Amino acid sequence: MTDDRLNLLSEPLELKCGIRLKNRLVKAPMSDSLGDGTGNPTDEQIELYRRWHDGGAALSLIGEVQVDRRYPEKPGNLALDAVDDETMFRRLAAVPDGSGAHIWPQLGHAGALSYPPVSTPVGPSALDIEGLQCAEMSTDELEALPGRFAVAAANACRVGFTGVQIHAAHGFLLSQFLSPLFNRRVDRYGGSIEARAGLLIAVVDEVRRVVGPDVAVAVKINATDELEGGLTEADALVALEMVDRHGVDLIEISGGTYFPGAPSSSDRGSTSGPYYGHFANKARSVAGAAIMVTGGVKTRSHALELRSGGADLVGLARTMVLDPELPKAWLGGGGDPTFPSFPSTVPGGVTAWYTMRLEAIARGHEAAFQATPQEALATYDRRDESRVERWRARTDNQAHD
Ligand SMILES: Cc1cc2nc3c(=O)[nH]c(=O)nc-3n(C[C@H](O)[C@H](O)[C@H](O)COP(=O)(O)O)c2cc1C
Repeated sequence: MTDDRLNLLSEPLELKCGIRLKNRLVKAPMSDSLGDGTGNPTDEQIELYRRWHDGGAALSLIGEVQVDRRYPEKPGNLALDAVDDETMFRRLAAVPDGSGAHIWPQLGHAGALSYPPVSTPVGPSALDIEGLQCAEMSTDELEALPGRFAVAAANACRVGFTGVQIHAAHGFLLSQFLSPLFNRRVDRYGGSIEARAGLLIAVVDEVRRVVGPDVAVAVKINATDELEGGLTEADALVALEMVDRHGVDLIEISGGTYFPGAPSSSDRGSTSGPYYGHFANKARSVAGAAIMVTGGVKTRSHALELRSGGADLVGLARTMVLDPELPKAWLGGGGDPTFPSFPSTVPGGVTAWYTMRLEAIARGHEAAFQATPQEALATYDRRDESRVERWRARTDNQAHD
């Protein structure tokens, strides 16, 4: 490989807010479900982020950090609607310790995909389909949302994070608003893509207002929901352009949803290369923010392909679970990880396998990690069930505060 090609991955990038990313490899957000069951970080989680930091990622995004603990994706999530254990949050935010790398929480609200044992799911419109029921969000609740994201973003800054990402992808609340399949509202938050993106824009504005110009504000958005009647690429481009006009620093592009029976990016096994590489140039043509493309990057050649195709940053999820030191390896000319092949799986099984391997990395046991997707899913489900009472008790306390 010529030096020029390696530079595509190793050269730094300055974001509009002034933050400098030391290379082009980003650990994409993954819900590690290693919280303490009441929304606070644990030693294991801090160790996991230390491994990725030491592995050379310029930026690591913490998946699924909730802005309203009544609507989590899982009860192992972090929550920043209030900071209960400031010491632990500060320790997590301090992992980079002046090294020039960054860690940002991905702020979200699971909406219709909130974990039912601790939640009464809500979405833009009421839904009653197999495996998924939710009530319609009231206008008051919806209009309180930008403020909730802002509180969480302000808390993130206070404990030392240098940026935040707003989660508007994968079928969680803000992504449901973007999708005509799930957003049937007839008020000003439904209808055209400009209207469906209105809530996301209000969130971006309010977050920027509280964090100021020097903190990074990123958005994760789908290029497509991969669902008939869902968000299309044409509409995604309009939403992306709107988000960009409102001054975000980085836009992460992904796709798919976690709706029951629908394809998700993390459960997919294709070896054909980056899933959304073709969208990078389109995004580049309408946005001035840094464009990060995530999904399907298994080899250094895939990463270079994305960079050559218009992506400023390469998002890596499962590769970073197989090898937490991957950025160091790739920047040093080293090799690609070996992907596991699963003779049989169940919906959610592959994602659960990677989630349980995260726990093994956090404990330093990954070399001994072995499970089928079915076994991983069963362990993963049991772990969440064991946290239900604690999460509920903490959420009830907040309701009575
Ligand atoms: C275990 C696991 C958990 C994930 N959790 C999140 C999450 O919390 N937020 C998010 O935006 N994406 C999440 N994803 C999706 C990834 O960020 C990424 O978009 C997807 O896995 C495709 O990238 P990959 O091919 O590099 O794995 C998760 C993926 C995995 C494997």
